[in-house]
Amino acid sequence: MEFEINVNHLLGNEVTKLDKKVVPFRKNADGYDYQHLRKQLFTVIDKIGHASAKAQGLYGPITLARKLELSDHHLYVMKDSEANGGRGALVGILKVGHKRLFVYNNQSTVQELEPLCVLDFYVHESRQRMGCGRKLFDTMLSSENVKPQHLAIDRPSFKFSQFLQKHYNLKAVIPQVNNFVVFEGFFNRKEIYD
Ligand code: ACO
Repeated sequence: MEFEINVNHLLGNEVTKLDKKVVPFRKNADGYDYQHLRKQLFTVIDKIGHASAKAQGLYGPITLARKLELSDHHLYVMKDSEANGGRGALVGILKVGHKRLFVYNNQSTVQELEPLCVLDFYVHESRQRMGCGRKLFDTMLSSENVKPQHLAIDRPSFKFSQFLQKHYNLKAVIPQVNNFVVFEGFFNRKEIYD
């Protein structure tokens, strides 16, 4: 996803983790001050948030910079620094955050938990099926120190379900009454029973 804006001034790494502070990589660049670069960062996040919603057939975006600012969510943003004549292009986003959920286990017993949830996941159409999603997801798993089977997923699309099955062998779903999906292995961790 290309912009007039120089994305390399806004995002420092191939995959950058942003939180509620929504801090651009550079403090100033090309004569622009911090406030201007931060505004540019808001613009590119909002644009890719809208593209994600469109790709998923949603009425409104799940990811907006203002929403990120008001939450404890983490947004992982992937860029290609070489693209767009060296200005860089956005490749994809992955948003995660903790949510309080009632989760049923295989014995249909409900537990109130606050797992890390995948809330939004999108790779630009021109870059899908090239391993970018995997790179984003693996960066998130290692940064959040979480195993894929311990995540709850908000209404996974067909492509995302296929992705989880292919890369992480997640296929056996434990049925829930909310929109979230959890997989076999979700309850296999010590802290849930402590
Ligand atoms: N049809 C079926 N499976 C697909 C497709 C597709 N069109 N695209 C990706 N996948 C799955 C397959 O398992 C594929 O492996 P394969 O090519 O060997 O069949 C695997 O993903 C590819 O892995 P990556 O290249 O690492 O993933 P990618 O960069 O394509 O990103 C993503 C995956 C984010 C799901 C991407 O397909 C996408 O943006 N889809 C549109 C938006 C979307 O559905 N997002 C998830 C919404 S739900 C939520 O966010 C909680």
